[in-house]
Amino acid sequence: MELSDVAADLTEVLLTEKQISDKIAELSRLIERDYEGERPLLVGVLKGAVMVMADLARELKLHIDMDWMAVSSYGAGTQSSGVVRILKDLDSDLHGRKVLIVEDIIDSGLTLSWLVKNLRARGADSVEICALLRKPEAAKVQVDVKYVGFDIPNAFVVGYGLDYAEKYRNLRGVGILAPHVYA
Ligand code: XMP
Ligand code: MG
Repeated sequence: MELSDVAADLTEVLLTEKQISDKIAELSRLIERDYEGERPLLVGVLKGAVMVMADLARELKLHIDMDWMAVSSYGAGTQSSGVVRILKDLDSDLHGRKVLIVEDIIDSGLTLSWLVKNLRARGADSVEICALLRKPEAAKVQVDVKYVGFDIPNAFVVGYGLDYAEKYRNLRGVGILAPHVYA
């Protein structure tokens, strides 16, 4: 779906398909340089990271492995609590692996900082993060995101994997959701 197909549900177009694909190419060149001669394990965080993973993996001129995790933050409402529950774990053994976590968005950073610690504790050689989007709140926690696509305003965004109540994940771009949709 195009952003224009749901224009009435958005207050703003934040990123077009072209801006996203250009950025994924740019990040891929950095990743190729940093992992030259290696075969990193890309770990996608379900479900939001599906689009980033699909595009990043195909853009990379490297052999990679792909694995997936699903996690959920305990606690009330829409705020991430930092206490994370694993809903679907990895199939891979991480010993000696160079792990690159692939995420759609880093907001409070609580989920990712927990995930990095968890994966490091499994014996990975290195654990780095690639996130397409980063919200300003993320700056408040100590989580080192090596590859960031775009710093975005502190608004609720949808598209390109990001959902509201499971909708809008299949938009080609990213937009700011209009308050009337979730009011
Ligand atoms: P943290 O722990 O960094 O959690 O606060 C990040 C997770 O929160 C979700 N999230 C969003 N999902 N639009 C969305 O569709 C947003 O604007 C948004 N901000 C945070 C998302 O699941 C991410 O992995
Ligand atoms: Mg997510």
